[in-house]
Amino acid sequence: MAGKKKDAQRWDVGASDELPERGRLVVDVDEITVGVFRIDGGLYAWESTCPHVDGPICQGLMVPAVREVLDERRAIKGSVFDETDMRICCPWHGMEFSIKTGKHPANAKLALRKVAVSETGGRIFVDV
Ligand code: FES
Repeated sequence: MAGKKKDAQRWDVGASDELPERGRLVVDVDEITVGVFRIDGGLYAWESTCPHVDGPICQGLMVPAVREVLDERRAIKGSVFDETDMRICCPWHGMEFSIKTGKHPANAKLALRKVAVSETGGRIFVDV
């Protein structure tokens, strides 16, 4: 018999001023580790379990995407950082995921598990 899905519970995970722009909070709530990020003024939260082999993805480096710059013949001239596309890089084997979408940039089957996040009264909440 299938189990009944538990209703999400709201958890206070910290003060708004503990999470500046491009900052992160990694918190344990109800036996799940969650990473909360503030990017371009928005909040994004993901379970800190890498879809590769369960590495602590939200503990990884936050880096901008790297874009190749092409010349008129479409030959690579170099590369630049794209500050509008911040990534989280898994500390175990280096897979990258978009902090805003949770998606792997090249494999649509790989994505982080989203956690609902909100902010009110100077506090940040996640629903787990
Ligand atoms: S566990 Fe994250 S890349 Fe392997």
